[in-house]
Amino acid sequence: MAAMLQTDSESRAREMAEALLAWYDRHRRDLPWRAPPGRRAEPYCVWLSEIMLQQTTVATVGPYFRAFLDRWPSVEALAAAPLDDVLHAWQGLGYYARARNLHRCAGVVAATLDGRFPETEAGLRELPGIGPYTAAAIAAIAFDLPATPVDGNFERVMARLHAVATPLPDAKPELARLARALTPAARPGDHAQATMDLGATICRPKTPLCGRCPLASHCRGRAEGIAGDLPRRKPKAARPLRHGVVFWLTRGDGAVLLRRRPYSGLLGGMMEVPSTDWREAPWSHGEALASAPVAAGWQPLPGVVEHGFTHFRLRLELLTARFEGAGPDGTWCGIDDLGGQALPTLSKKVIRHALDTEPGPLFQKHHNA
Ligand code: ADE
Repeated sequence: MAAMLQTDSESRAREMAEALLAWYDRHRRDLPWRAPPGRRAEPYCVWLSEIMLQQTTVATVGPYFRAFLDRWPSVEALAAAPLDDVLHAWQGLGYYARARNLHRCAGVVAATLDGRFPETEAGLRELPGIGPYTAAAIAAIAFDLPATPVDGNFERVMARLHAVATPLPDAKPELARLARALTPAARPGDHAQATMDLGATICRPKTPLCGRCPLASHCRGRAEGIAGDLPRRKPKAARPLRHGVVFWLTRGDGAVLLRRRPYSGLLGGMMEVPSTDWREAPWSHGEALASAPVAAGWQPLPGVVEHGFTHFRLRLELLTARFEGAGPDGTWCGIDDLGGQALPTLSKKVIRHALDTEPGPLFQKHHNA
């Protein structure tokens, strides 16, 4: 009896996989990193796109992917690039630790693996920046191995298909098990991409288009009228608020003092306007001055800059001063050269705010720039 039940669920899984692949053959998205139907994508392209797609949307990644491939057409070319060039080209994709790992990974593949990515999930996972999800995605898409890259799309599709009411993140192991059970031996790479496409275009987070879904007849969530409410999620804990004070130091020639953040940690290796630490308690003027890059007549600028990180919100106040001569650690950067720096969104917000609120000649000269 157990054997018969298993056969039953296996044949249902096969039916679903076939329906999904038939749908994919007609409706697959034309994405810049995808190979034409029936062909395998270059592992370098799959790896590059998957690293870029971690926590970033397909629409955002497209132009970055093309620009990287134009500039660094092979893993060896990327490995040979200066880290700063890579960080700069990464600007706007966020999470710079990913860009540093990308560069490190390219270095390892080029130097020790003859430019070839390992053809197993386990081998891929040993590389910098490649976790379980990315290893499974590369194994499936580049090498057509029966791996299951369970991302948010997979979780949503599985939660609906099987009417899983357990909220995320507790439901993750169950959803991953259900996803693996549906992965076919034939065309696992296309199956993975089909599930991603289904999640993005049909089984959408807010209003699923169940009428067009190739799996509608198998979907318990739909049968129970709850598909659109799944997956459930535990309420998120409120993100704590941290405070910092930024030091906007300018020279007579209009240059601004920047510094590089430490290579490890948040926004690692990116340039920024110097600041105090970011901490839970607000800073008094006197306390903040102990972290100033130079002793000067620091004056507050009006307003604050706010920014949301994954695990906390940040509120920055700004102090400004003029300084001539040598002394502070950092890099003086002309206002017109700021565009050439590897600046994260947070620093861009700070700079825009400072230029918009700073009184005096710099403001007059550069406000419309
Ligand atoms: N999201 C993550 N990887 C993807 C891929 N290869 N195709 C489409 N969406 C994705």
